[in-house]
Amino acid sequence: MIEVRNLKKYFPVQKSAIESLLSKEKKWIRAVDGITFSMEKGEVLSLIGESGCGKTTTGRLIAGLETPTDGEILFEGKNVLKLRRKELKKVRRKIQMIFQDPYASLNPRMKVGKHLIDPLLIHNICEEDEAKETAMKILDRVGLPGEEFFGRYPHQLSGGQRQRVVIARAMILKPDFVVADEPVSMIDVSLRAAILELLMEFRRDYNLSMLFITHDISVGKIVSDRISVMYLGKIVETGDMEKVIESPKHPYTAALLSSVPSFERKIEKIDIKGDVANPMEMPSGCRFHPRCPFAKEKCEKEEPELIGGKHGFACHYPLG
Ligand SMILES: Nc1ncnc2c1ncn2[C@@H]1O[C@H](COP(=O)(O)OP(=O)(O)O)[C@@H](O)[C@H]1O
Ligand SMILES: [Mg+2]
Repeated sequence: MIEVRNLKKYFPVQKSAIESLLSKEKKWIRAVDGITFSMEKGEVLSLIGESGCGKTTTGRLIAGLETPTDGEILFEGKNVLKLRRKELKKVRRKIQMIFQDPYASLNPRMKVGKHLIDPLLIHNICEEDEAKETAMKILDRVGLPGEEFFGRYPHQLSGGQRQRVVIARAMILKPDFVVADEPVSMIDVSLRAAILELLMEFRRDYNLSMLFITHDISVGKIVSDRISVMYLGKIVETGDMEKVIESPKHPYTAALLSSVPSFERKIEKIDIKGDVANPMEMPSGCRFHPRCPFAKEKCEKEEPELIGGKHGFACHYPLG
């Protein structure tokens, strides 16, 4: 369904005038630094990691909102970066993104209805009358009765209601693949379960594949079949959700798991030192080594590859 190969995104660092005079050398933030994974039809993969590790950038690359520095994205076997405009438009319709911030995702001057009708018209799916009918239906479907909500403005909605509109807008195009970027992290805790349930209903009904981005492994566990754990632009561990939770191989995964209260019984507490390194000054060798309680000399020198197949990990000294 979707295959990502050695995907990279480097952002240039803005320098002050004086810094530019002192050094001509360009600096880069390696937001996504060579990730490879694939997903099947109907599968949900959680991408998990701390803030700043490159999750959103990965999602935006797949949704076509950023251009990769390097690497390939194959959708249904075709390299999307090499498609002609017409084919690309078709693919763009099939891949939709749900953003983290329901306040920033909607145009404050546009009524709810127009947010839903526009994608149908832009992609020439139907005429305006039919578009309106479809919009009303999907509003009912996401729990916002069309009669009541079609003509409202975003500021007349709560955060949870806005996120339902955002979900409706993504789903109205009947996508095959959805990138959901922390879809509940800005939603009131009491409303999160219902929003996740709604996403899972669409998943079932449309047999959707979903890349579910979250910093919260306990949310990831509810919705996904597999997880990939990211650290500073790289995938450090990947595998079936249950397997990885039961026996994490990478110390970083284990540390993330041991910080979740409900998992604590199973996993020995692992404390990692300090904060995530600055992605402009990537550590040598294994980029996790400065924080790793088990780091040895090799970890400072050699970058570990992702090995191990179905349950993959990038660590010289994996946990038992
Ligand atoms: N448009 C951008 N320009 C420059 N740096 C960026 C941009 N977007 C993200 N970054 C940087 O890339 C890194 C990864 O960011 P992001 O993908 O948002 O991580 P996450 O979603 O995991 O928090 C961060 O260091 C962030 O500051
Ligand atoms: Mg993010």
